[in-house]
Amino acid sequence: MNGHRPKPVVAVTRKLPAPVETRMMELFQARLNGTDAPMTPASILAACDGADALVPTVTDSIDAALVRALPDTVRLIANFGVGVNHIDLAAAAARHIAVTNTPGVLTDDTADLTIALLLAVPRRLGEGERLARGGKWGGWSPTFMMGRRVTGKRLGIIGMGRIGQAVARRARGFEMAIHYHNRRRLDDETEAALEASYWEDLDQMLAHMDFVSVNCPQTPETFHLLDARRLDLLPPHAVIVNTARGGIIDEAALAERLAAGTVAGAGLDVYEAEPGISEALMGLENVVLAPHLGSATIEGRIAMGEKVIANIKSFTDGHAPPDRVMPGLDV
Ligand code: DGY
Repeated sequence: MNGHRPKPVVAVTRKLPAPVETRMMELFQARLNGTDAPMTPASILAACDGADALVPTVTDSIDAALVRALPDTVRLIANFGVGVNHIDLAAAAARHIAVTNTPGVLTDDTADLTIALLLAVPRRLGEGERLARGGKWGGWSPTFMMGRRVTGKRLGIIGMGRIGQAVARRARGFEMAIHYHNRRRLDDETEAALEASYWEDLDQMLAHMDFVSVNCPQTPETFHLLDARRLDLLPPHAVIVNTARGGIIDEAALAERLAAGTVAGAGLDVYEAEPGISEALMGLENVVLAPHLGSATIEGRIAMGEKVIANIKSFTDGHAPPDRVMPGLDV
Protein backbone atom coordinates (compact mmCIF):
# COMPACT_ATOMS: atom_id res chain seq x y z
CA MET A 1 0.00 0.00 0.00
CA ASN A 2 1.51 3.33 -1.00
CA GLY A 3 -1.41 5.33 0.40
CA HIS A 4 -2.29 6.79 -3.02
CA ARG A 5 -5.90 6.61 -4.09
CA PRO A 6 -6.38 5.17 -7.56
CA LYS A 7 -7.32 7.78 -10.15
CA PRO A 8 -11.07 8.00 -10.82
CA VAL A 9 -12.18 6.10 -13.91
CA VAL A 10 -13.94 8.40 -16.40
CA ALA A 11 -15.73 7.28 -19.58
CA VAL A 12 -15.85 9.96 -22.29
CA THR A 13 -18.25 9.46 -25.22
CA ARG A 14 -16.75 11.83 -27.83
CA LYS A 15 -13.35 13.20 -28.81
CA LEU A 16 -12.58 16.38 -26.84
CA PRO A 17 -10.02 19.13 -27.63
CA ALA A 18 -6.47 17.79 -27.14
CA PRO A 19 -5.57 19.94 -24.06
CA VAL A 20 -8.73 18.67 -22.33
CA GLU A 21 -8.00 15.02 -23.09
CA THR A 22 -4.37 15.45 -21.97
CA ARG A 23 -5.43 16.95 -18.63
CA MET A 24 -8.02 14.20 -18.19
CA MET A 25 -5.32 11.57 -18.72
CA GLU A 26 -3.17 13.29 -16.05
CA LEU A 27 -5.95 13.42 -13.46
CA PHE A 28 -8.11 10.40 -14.25
CA GLN A 29 -8.03 6.97 -15.79
CA ALA A 30 -9.81 8.42 -18.78
CA ARG A 31 -11.40 6.14 -21.34
CA LEU A 32 -11.29 8.33 -24.43
CA ASN A 33 -13.10 7.93 -27.75
CA GLY A 34 -10.20 8.15 -30.22
CA THR A 35 -12.41 7.72 -33.29
CA ASP A 36 -15.04 10.30 -32.21
CA ALA A 37 -17.73 7.99 -33.64
CA PRO A 38 -21.02 8.52 -31.73
CA MET A 39 -21.42 5.64 -29.26
CA THR A 40 -24.41 3.32 -29.06
CA PRO A 41 -26.13 2.83 -25.68
CA ALA A 42 -24.47 -0.61 -25.48
CA SER A 43 -21.00 0.85 -26.09
CA ILE A 44 -21.60 3.61 -23.53
CA LEU A 45 -22.57 0.98 -20.95
CA ALA A 46 -19.49 -1.10 -21.84
CA ALA A 47 -17.25 1.98 -21.46
CA CYS A 48 -18.85 2.65 -18.05
CA ASP A 49 -17.99 -0.79 -16.66
CA GLY A 50 -16.24 -0.02 -13.36
CA ALA A 51 -16.22 3.74 -14.12
CA ASP A 52 -16.84 6.48 -11.52
CA ALA A 53 -18.09 9.09 -13.98
CA LEU A 54 -19.59 9.33 -17.45
CA VAL A 55 -18.90 12.36 -19.68
CA PRO A 56 -21.57 12.53 -22.42
CA THR A 57 -22.42 15.27 -24.89
CA VAL A 58 -25.60 16.50 -26.57
CA THR A 59 -25.24 13.71 -29.18
CA ASP A 60 -25.82 10.97 -26.57
CA SER A 61 -29.29 10.04 -25.41
CA ILE A 62 -28.84 9.37 -21.71
CA ASP A 63 -32.45 8.30 -21.28
CA ALA A 64 -34.10 6.54 -18.35
CA ALA A 65 -33.33 3.05 -19.68
CA LEU A 66 -29.66 3.85 -20.04
CA VAL A 67 -29.48 5.55 -16.62
CA ARG A 68 -31.12 2.52 -15.02
CA ALA A 69 -28.62 0.20 -16.72
CA LEU A 70 -25.50 2.15 -15.63
CA PRO A 71 -23.20 0.17 -13.34
CA ASP A 72 -23.48 1.05 -9.62
CA THR A 73 -19.92 2.44 -9.71
CA VAL A 74 -21.08 5.42 -11.82
CA ARG A 75 -21.95 8.22 -9.36
CA LEU A 76 -21.61 11.22 -11.67
CA ILE A 77 -22.75 12.23 -15.16
CA ALA A 78 -20.54 15.22 -16.01
CA ASN A 79 -22.07 16.59 -19.21
CA PHE A 80 -19.81 18.33 -21.73
CA GLY A 81 -22.26 21.13 -22.55
CA VAL A 82 -24.76 23.37 -20.82
CA GLY A 83 -28.01 21.89 -22.20
CA VAL A 84 -29.08 18.71 -20.42
CA ASN A 85 -32.30 17.88 -22.29
CA HIS A 86 -30.65 14.66 -23.55
CA ILE A 87 -30.23 13.38 -19.97
CA ASP A 88 -33.13 11.99 -17.92
CA LEU A 89 -32.50 14.01 -14.76
CA ALA A 90 -35.30 12.34 -12.79
CA ALA A 91 -33.94 8.87 -13.57
CA ALA A 92 -30.47 10.01 -12.48
CA ALA A 93 -31.86 11.50 -9.26
CA ALA A 94 -33.75 8.27 -8.56
CA ARG A 95 -30.43 6.42 -8.65
CA HIS A 96 -28.67 9.18 -6.66
CA ILE A 97 -26.37 9.86 -9.60
CA ALA A 98 -25.24 13.50 -9.66
CA VAL A 99 -25.44 15.45 -12.94
CA THR A 100 -23.30 18.48 -13.80
CA ASN A 101 -23.06 20.76 -16.85
CA THR A 102 -20.86 23.60 -18.14
CA PRO A 103 -22.67 26.93 -17.73
CA GLY A 104 -21.15 30.37 -18.34
CA VAL A 105 -18.20 29.46 -20.54
CA LEU A 106 -20.15 29.23 -23.81
CA THR A 107 -22.40 32.23 -23.22
CA ASP A 108 -20.47 34.72 -25.35
CA ASP A 109 -19.82 32.32 -28.22
CA THR A 110 -23.49 31.33 -28.41
CA ALA A 111 -24.60 34.96 -28.24
CA ASP A 112 -22.13 35.87 -31.00
CA LEU A 113 -23.56 33.17 -33.26
CA THR A 114 -27.08 34.31 -32.46
CA ILE A 115 -26.21 37.80 -33.67
CA ALA A 116 -24.47 36.38 -36.76
CA LEU A 117 -27.72 34.60 -37.72
CA LEU A 118 -29.82 37.61 -36.77
CA LEU A 119 -27.82 39.70 -39.26
CA ALA A 120 -27.43 37.02 -41.92
CA VAL A 121 -31.15 36.34 -42.45
CA PRO A 122 -32.57 39.84 -43.14
CA ARG A 123 -29.44 40.87 -45.07
CA ARG A 124 -29.79 37.70 -47.22
CA LEU A 125 -26.20 36.65 -46.63
CA GLY A 126 -26.72 32.93 -47.25
CA GLU A 127 -28.61 33.55 -50.46
CA GLY A 128 -26.04 36.13 -51.61
CA GLU A 129 -23.14 33.84 -50.82
CA ARG A 130 -24.71 31.00 -52.82
CA LEU A 131 -25.29 33.34 -55.75
CA ALA A 132 -21.76 34.82 -55.72
CA ARG A 133 -20.10 31.43 -55.32
CA GLY A 134 -22.29 30.01 -58.08
CA GLY A 135 -21.01 32.63 -60.53
CA LYS A 136 -24.53 34.00 -60.98
CA TRP A 137 -23.97 37.59 -59.89
CA GLY A 138 -24.77 39.99 -62.71
CA GLY A 139 -23.47 43.11 -60.90
CA TRP A 140 -24.69 45.86 -58.57
CA SER A 141 -28.04 47.50 -59.18
CA PRO A 142 -30.19 49.81 -57.04
CA THR A 143 -32.84 47.14 -56.51
CA PHE A 144 -30.63 44.06 -56.35
CA MET A 145 -31.09 41.70 -53.39
CA MET A 146 -32.61 44.22 -51.03
CA GLY A 147 -33.01 42.91 -47.51
CA ARG A 148 -34.39 44.41 -44.32
CA ARG A 149 -32.63 46.72 -41.85
CA VAL A 150 -31.65 45.38 -38.43
CA THR A 151 -30.66 48.61 -36.70
CA GLY A 152 -33.38 50.04 -34.48
CA LYS A 153 -35.78 47.09 -34.76
CA ARG A 154 -37.57 45.25 -31.95
CA LEU A 155 -36.02 42.01 -30.68
CA GLY A 156 -38.06 39.62 -28.51
CA ILE A 157 -35.87 37.25 -26.51
CA ILE A 158 -37.47 34.06 -25.22
CA GLY A 159 -35.43 32.95 -22.20
CA MET A 160 -33.50 35.73 -20.47
CA GLY A 161 -30.81 33.70 -18.72
CA ARG A 162 -27.08 34.14 -19.29
CA ILE A 163 -27.24 33.67 -23.06
CA GLY A 164 -30.42 35.71 -23.54
CA GLN A 165 -28.86 38.62 -21.65
CA ALA A 166 -25.63 38.35 -23.66
CA VAL A 167 -27.71 38.51 -26.87
CA ALA A 168 -29.52 41.58 -25.50
CA ARG A 169 -26.23 43.37 -24.72
CA ARG A 170 -24.98 42.76 -28.25
CA ALA A 171 -28.29 43.75 -29.84
CA ARG A 172 -28.17 47.08 -27.95
CA GLY A 173 -25.09 47.79 -30.10
CA PHE A 174 -27.44 47.69 -33.09
CA GLU A 175 -29.80 50.06 -31.28
CA MET A 176 -32.41 47.32 -31.11
CA ALA A 177 -35.26 47.67 -28.62
CA ILE A 178 -35.03 44.70 -26.24
CA HIS A 179 -38.17 42.83 -25.23
CA TYR A 180 -38.22 39.53 -23.38
CA HIS A 181 -40.35 36.72 -22.05
CA ASN A 182 -39.00 34.63 -19.20
CA ARG A 183 -40.46 32.52 -16.43
CA ARG A 184 -39.20 35.13 -13.98
CA ARG A 185 -38.85 38.83 -14.49
CA LEU A 186 -35.27 40.19 -14.27
CA ASP A 187 -34.33 42.32 -11.27
CA ASP A 188 -34.89 46.04 -11.79
CA GLU A 189 -31.18 46.84 -12.14
CA THR A 190 -30.53 44.26 -14.90
CA GLU A 191 -33.72 45.19 -16.72
CA ALA A 192 -32.78 48.88 -16.61
CA ALA A 193 -29.21 48.22 -17.78
CA LEU A 194 -30.54 46.35 -20.83
CA GLU A 195 -33.40 48.82 -21.29
CA ALA A 196 -35.50 45.68 -21.63
CA SER A 197 -39.29 45.43 -21.61
CA TYR A 198 -40.81 42.38 -19.92
CA TRP A 199 -43.81 40.54 -21.38
CA GLU A 200 -45.40 38.07 -19.03
CA ASP A 201 -47.58 36.89 -21.92
CA LEU A 202 -45.51 35.33 -24.70
CA ASP A 203 -48.41 35.43 -27.18
CA GLN A 204 -48.70 39.18 -26.81
CA MET A 205 -44.98 39.74 -27.21
CA LEU A 206 -44.76 37.67 -30.41
CA ALA A 207 -47.37 39.77 -32.16
CA HIS A 208 -45.27 42.94 -31.71
CA MET A 209 -41.75 41.79 -32.64
CA ASP A 210 -39.55 42.25 -35.72
CA PHE A 211 -37.09 39.57 -34.54
CA VAL A 212 -37.46 36.70 -32.09
CA SER A 213 -34.48 34.90 -30.55
CA VAL A 214 -34.97 31.59 -28.77
CA ASN A 215 -32.59 31.29 -25.82
CA CYS A 216 -34.38 29.11 -23.27
CA PRO A 217 -33.52 25.52 -22.33
CA GLN A 218 -35.56 22.69 -23.83
CA THR A 219 -37.67 21.10 -21.11
CA PRO A 220 -41.05 19.32 -21.24
CA GLU A 221 -42.61 22.79 -20.68
CA THR A 222 -40.76 24.48 -23.58
CA PHE A 223 -41.09 21.63 -26.11
CA HIS A 224 -42.82 23.16 -29.19
CA LEU A 225 -43.25 26.43 -27.30
CA LEU A 226 -43.33 28.02 -30.75
CA ASP A 227 -46.02 25.80 -32.26
CA ALA A 228 -48.21 26.54 -35.30
CA ARG A 229 -50.60 28.69 -33.26
CA ARG A 230 -47.85 30.89 -31.83
CA LEU A 231 -46.00 31.14 -35.15
CA ASP A 232 -49.21 32.52 -36.62
CA LEU A 233 -49.12 35.37 -34.09
CA LEU A 234 -45.90 36.78 -35.58
CA PRO A 235 -46.08 39.70 -38.00
CA PRO A 236 -45.25 38.44 -41.52
CA HIS A 237 -42.00 40.43 -41.64
CA ALA A 238 -40.68 38.73 -38.47
CA VAL A 239 -37.44 36.75 -38.42
CA ILE A 240 -36.80 33.92 -35.92
CA VAL A 241 -33.38 32.85 -34.68
CA ASN A 242 -32.85 29.66 -32.69
CA THR A 243 -29.49 28.79 -31.11
CA ALA A 244 -31.02 26.92 -28.14
CA ARG A 245 -32.61 23.56 -29.00
CA GLY A 246 -34.54 22.44 -32.07
CA GLY A 247 -37.46 20.98 -30.17
CA ILE A 248 -38.52 24.40 -28.85
CA ILE A 249 -39.90 25.21 -32.33
CA ASP A 250 -42.26 22.99 -34.29
CA GLU A 251 -39.89 22.67 -37.25
CA ALA A 252 -42.48 21.40 -39.75
CA ALA A 253 -44.88 24.23 -38.88
CA LEU A 254 -42.05 26.78 -39.21
CA ALA A 255 -40.99 25.40 -42.61
CA GLU A 256 -44.59 25.66 -43.87
CA ARG A 257 -44.84 29.30 -42.81
CA LEU A 258 -41.45 30.22 -44.22
CA ALA A 259 -42.46 28.68 -47.55
CA ALA A 260 -45.78 30.54 -47.48
CA GLY A 261 -44.08 33.81 -46.50
CA THR A 262 -46.12 34.27 -43.33
CA VAL A 263 -42.83 34.18 -41.41
CA ALA A 264 -40.20 36.19 -43.28
CA GLY A 265 -37.07 34.26 -42.37
CA ALA A 266 -35.24 32.05 -39.90
CA GLY A 267 -31.68 31.55 -38.74
CA LEU A 268 -31.31 28.10 -37.23
CA ASP A 269 -28.38 26.46 -35.47
CA VAL A 270 -30.37 23.61 -33.92
CA TYR A 271 -32.93 21.12 -35.22
CA GLU A 272 -35.49 18.66 -33.94
CA ALA A 273 -33.70 15.53 -35.22
CA GLU A 274 -30.02 16.46 -35.39
CA PRO A 275 -28.01 15.91 -37.48
CA GLY A 276 -31.04 15.58 -39.76
CA ILE A 277 -32.46 18.79 -41.22
CA SER A 278 -35.85 18.56 -42.90
CA GLU A 279 -35.92 18.75 -46.69
CA ALA A 280 -38.60 21.40 -46.35
CA LEU A 281 -36.13 23.76 -44.64
CA MET A 282 -33.23 22.94 -46.92
CA GLY A 283 -35.08 24.06 -50.02
CA LEU A 284 -35.85 27.55 -48.68
CA GLU A 285 -33.85 30.68 -49.57
CA ASN A 286 -35.14 32.67 -46.58
CA VAL A 287 -33.42 30.38 -44.06
CA VAL A 288 -29.82 30.37 -42.89
CA LEU A 289 -28.87 26.93 -41.58
CA ALA A 290 -25.87 26.36 -39.30
CA PRO A 291 -24.76 22.94 -38.01
CA HIS A 292 -25.06 23.44 -34.21
CA LEU A 293 -22.06 25.78 -34.01
CA GLY A 294 -23.17 27.90 -31.02
CA SER A 295 -20.32 26.91 -28.69
CA ALA A 296 -17.91 25.79 -31.42
CA THR A 297 -14.83 27.92 -30.71
CA ILE A 298 -11.56 26.38 -29.58
CA GLU A 299 -11.55 28.70 -26.56
CA GLY A 300 -15.12 27.76 -25.63
CA ARG A 301 -14.66 24.04 -26.04
CA ILE A 302 -11.46 24.03 -23.93
CA ALA A 303 -13.25 26.04 -21.23
CA MET A 304 -16.14 23.55 -21.33
CA GLY A 305 -13.63 20.72 -20.87
CA GLU A 306 -12.04 22.54 -17.93
CA LYS A 307 -15.48 22.80 -16.31
CA VAL A 308 -16.08 19.08 -16.82
CA ILE A 309 -12.72 18.33 -15.20
CA ALA A 310 -13.40 20.65 -12.24
CA ASN A 311 -16.78 19.02 -11.69
CA ILE A 312 -15.36 15.48 -11.74
CA LYS A 313 -12.37 16.43 -9.58
CA SER A 314 -14.39 18.12 -6.86
CA PHE A 315 -17.03 15.37 -6.88
CA THR A 316 -14.52 12.51 -6.66
CA ASP A 317 -12.60 14.43 -3.95
CA GLY A 318 -15.79 14.38 -1.90
CA HIS A 319 -16.93 17.99 -2.43
CA ALA A 320 -20.06 19.41 -4.04
CA PRO A 321 -19.35 19.85 -7.76
CA PRO A 322 -19.63 23.52 -8.80
CA ASP A 323 -22.16 22.99 -11.59
CA ARG A 324 -24.63 20.47 -10.23
CA VAL A 325 -27.94 20.34 -12.12
CA MET A 326 -31.04 19.49 -10.13
CA PRO A 327 -34.17 18.13 -11.79
CA GLY A 328 -36.73 20.90 -12.34
CA LEU A 329 -34.31 23.78 -11.87
CA ASP A 330 -33.22 26.33 -14.47
CA VAL A 331 -29.97 25.58 -16.25
C1 DGY B 1 -24.60 23.11 -25.16
O1 DGY B 1 -23.63 23.23 -24.43
O2 DGY B 1 -25.71 22.85 -24.73
C2 DGY B 1 -24.37 23.24 -26.62
O3 DGY B 1 -25.56 23.29 -27.34
C3 DGY B 1 -23.55 22.06 -27.12
O4 DGY B 1 -24.07 20.93 -26.55
